[in-house]
Amino acid sequence: MQSRTVSELLSQQTTLLEVDIKGWVRTFRANRFIALNDGSTINNIQCVVDFEKFDESVLKRITTGAAVHIKGELVESQGKGQKVEIQVHNIEVLGDSDPETYPIQPKKHSFEFLRENAHLRTRTNTFSAIMRLRSALSFAVHKYFNENGFYYMHAPIITGSDAEGAGEMFKVSSLDPKNTPLTEDGKVDYSKDFFGKETNLTVSGQLEAETYAMSLGKVYTFGPTFRAENSNTSRHLAEFWMIEPEVAFMDLAGNMDLAEDFLKSVITHVLEHNQEDLEFLDQRLLNEEKSKPQAERSDMSLIEKLKFVTENNFKRVSYTEAIDILRSCKPNKKKKFKYIIDEWGTDLQSEHERFLVEKHFKCPVILFDYPANIKAFYMRLNEDGKTVRAMDILFPGIGEIVGGAQREERLDILKERMAAIDIPEEDLWWYLDLRKYGTAVHSGFGLGFERLVMFATGMTNIRDVIPFPRTPHNAEF
Ligand code: 4AD
Ligand code: MG
Repeated sequence: MQSRTVSELLSQQTTLLEVDIKGWVRTFRANRFIALNDGSTINNIQCVVDFEKFDESVLKRITTGAAVHIKGELVESQGKGQKVEIQVHNIEVLGDSDPETYPIQPKKHSFEFLRENAHLRTRTNTFSAIMRLRSALSFAVHKYFNENGFYYMHAPIITGSDAEGAGEMFKVSSLDPKNTPLTEDGKVDYSKDFFGKETNLTVSGQLEAETYAMSLGKVYTFGPTFRAENSNTSRHLAEFWMIEPEVAFMDLAGNMDLAEDFLKSVITHVLEHNQEDLEFLDQRLLNEEKSKPQAERSDMSLIEKLKFVTENNFKRVSYTEAIDILRSCKPNKKKKFKYIIDEWGTDLQSEHERFLVEKHFKCPVILFDYPANIKAFYMRLNEDGKTVRAMDILFPGIGEIVGGAQREERLDILKERMAAIDIPEEDLWWYLDLRKYGTAVHSGFGLGFERLVMFATGMTNIRDVIPFPRTPHNAEF
């Protein structure tokens, strides 16, 4: 007899089947009803035990968290709440679970508590739903690019360059910190290091992806990236996954079209394939909303929010237009932002981004043509000499979800921009080569995968959408 998953059994039409199933006990009620879950679905299957037929010593071991192997018959359920259930003929306890110490009790646990038990939190409904959605979204990412002629490129994790020019990198070194070799002028001698130079964990695979776009045409990376910024917020991780497509002969307008089409496609995928988990998370959020004052409640459910994104055009607004709106708007009762934008050229704070998306336009917004001085060195300078062809996509409840740009393809201007922020040409000689040999217009963007998972699950803390979050002072697992 072939083993089946709970998900398969619950969708069975025919009953009176011999079944064989393994999973973890969620609850064991009245010495009779086991709620069994195996991770294949949010739902448990009820397994009915005729306790008179089983030895007391076996029944005692059926506790919350125990792993069990059940053989029996799938029958129509007599009780309410489920169509089918298993009449248990045989039960073997594969792994005991001490009910006194098992952290995941059949009750509501706080997210803080579950973060401390991240190794067991996927045994709850909420986290199993989130992680199934995370998996489905990664599949949808690869599916989209595969169907649209992109090649998947693996960018290196250890690099010698700072792709964002922001200096927020984790150093990688094979040198013994207790006995670091020094140069004559007292600096760390990286020539003695494994790589013979100073290296770090990548902050973005973009620069390497550009080299592949300039030969394979359309490529994307999807891998872990690392930022040593000390931001202890609900939207930042020190290790996060980024999706970075890069396309030759594509300008900024094409980049916006690609990003919008891509985001709509991956969200449509989960709406079509993960309905059960989305409905569960939707219900969770509805219950949470009920505890808020009426005025603060969201007027859309999670599924409505996802559908809204797939069915409506993103609003495209230049930085200059956005600044004009922000200067003339009254965001709240006090009619002020905490951080006032008094002049053109100031970077937007998350309160401004969220105001534009959630209060003003009430839809996803693509902001473009930012001032050059607040954006990275590699972005294509516009003819006005002061703005660059950058774009950020802002999502309701999330803020910035995508950052991208058309790249500076002109060698002389790129060199000037690097010199302005002291990036030595020797450090990026290979990147400059792309502009020397067969340069062309090209563009790409980076999507923070966890921010996408937050949007798709309605979770408000980024620590709850990645298996083992890395944040300041947090690397327990
Ligand atoms: O805006 P960022 O820094 O852009 C880049 O790294 C470009 N090289 C991307 C490209 O053009 N290929 O990061 C891109 C996205 C952000 O919009 C955000 O969604 C996410 O990555 N992100 C983070 N997510 C979680 N934790 C952090 N610390 C993040 N920093 C950026
Ligand atoms: Mg950004």
